[in-house]
Amino acid sequence: MTKNDIGVIGLGTMGKNLALNLANKGFKVAGFNRTYVITKEIENEKHDNFKGYEEISEFVDSLEKPAKIIVMVKAGEPVDMVCDQLLDFLIEGDIIIDAGNSYFKDTMRRHDFIESRGIFYFGVGVSGGEKGALLGPSIMPGGDKDAYDLIKPYLETIAAQKNGEPCCTYIGPNGAGHYVKMVHNGIEYADMQLIAESYLLLKEIGHFSNQEMADIFEEWNSTELRSYLVEITAKILREKDELTDLDLVDMIVDKASQKGTGKWTILEAINQDFNVSLIQAAVQARITSNLVERDIFSRAFLVPNGKEINPKVFKEEVRKAYTLGKLIAYAQGFSLMYDASIRYDWQLDLGKIASIFRAGCIIQAELLEVIMNVYKNEEVLSNFLVDGSMINQVNTNIQSLRVTNSLAILAGVPIPVLSSAITYLDQLRSKLVGANLIQAQRDFFGAHTFERIDVEGKVHHEWEN
Ligand code: 6PG
Repeated sequence: MTKNDIGVIGLGTMGKNLALNLANKGFKVAGFNRTYVITKEIENEKHDNFKGYEEISEFVDSLEKPAKIIVMVKAGEPVDMVCDQLLDFLIEGDIIIDAGNSYFKDTMRRHDFIESRGIFYFGVGVSGGEKGALLGPSIMPGGDKDAYDLIKPYLETIAAQKNGEPCCTYIGPNGAGHYVKMVHNGIEYADMQLIAESYLLLKEIGHFSNQEMADIFEEWNSTELRSYLVEITAKILREKDELTDLDLVDMIVDKASQKGTGKWTILEAINQDFNVSLIQAAVQARITSNLVERDIFSRAFLVPNGKEINPKVFKEEVRKAYTLGKLIAYAQGFSLMYDASIRYDWQLDLGKIASIFRAGCIIQAELLEVIMNVYKNEEVLSNFLVDGSMINQVNTNIQSLRVTNSLAILAGVPIPVLSSAITYLDQLRSKLVGANLIQAQRDFFGAHTFERIDVEGKVHHEWEN
């Protein structure tokens, strides 16, 4: 009986599409799902190279050795449950591949426990949504480097391709893959919020219609701002509502949800003493959009009157502001990965990570080609903004970011990420950020000492004389 090449456990939308992607690429795929009826439905669709199993023992037994099993179930307890089930049937040298959005520290824990049993464990970030899973996602595998060679042919074959290269590369040991996916999602939140703020500015200050804004985003998508998120935004703004024939976007409740990966990113950044203010602002924007008191405050607070503007000029200011805001968001995300790479001893290759983000994933964008090339010239950079080409980008667009922020504040349009962007740049640029006064206050009430600008060492001053 011919053995299957690889197995997939968890045949929900993402798991099913990954299984079919593998099958469509010619691999013999075994499928298993907690509820067999799902497996049966997929079997009944008569996909070549896919075979479903009702018993997990038969599923594992059907796999060529070493067994390679992709687990695609909800993050958290379900992953632990599936791993416990599998451990009863796997033997030394087999491989478990968690391709869900697991928290990277859970992956590190599972990796250590399962590898202590002689079984390899990979935490693999997969980005691109259900369509990406079927047609080609961006894949971020983390785990044992030698064992990666056993799963590389499968993952790199089903990954999205960019200029003939797979958008999949070995990321690093243990939790590195899921960490990078987490930061990918943090950047995703910031970019989505920046686009939402651009939409708000164009709508509330530029008074553009949804159709006109769709044209604007479509224009932007043929510039350096080309990206999956800009592309889908143009499509979203054109979409009509079947029930009312109004624009669908106007029929959607103005409250954003989140599954949590963006939140993990800012919690990790705080733990790393790292500033990801744009990602943080994006997470907070989603939280604030759900505040029940918004209705009261919208009637209670003074309504600003804003300033008359020339829409054509303003449209260009918004484009340049978004261009810079996006650059800063990606820079903060990549710097966070740089810090984590040192902290967890992962040796992350940020240039390679930028290269696999160029296609397949949600944050795929022209900008990643630019970022990848910066790392080609300077492999180890704590913050790619120090690169000359990036400094030019900042200086070319910073005035538009200031003007856009000023007009937004006068008009009362909330732009938490764009305002964080100009504040962050001014924090980086300013000779004095007020930290000297913070140190004086801390020393005044807590004798926490401060350093002087003219002599070495820490001093305490007797303030109460
Ligand atoms: C991806 C996406 C995906 C994400 C969902 C929900 O890379 O394909 O980031 O993994 O989890 O789109 O995201 P939120 O609920 O956190 O917005």
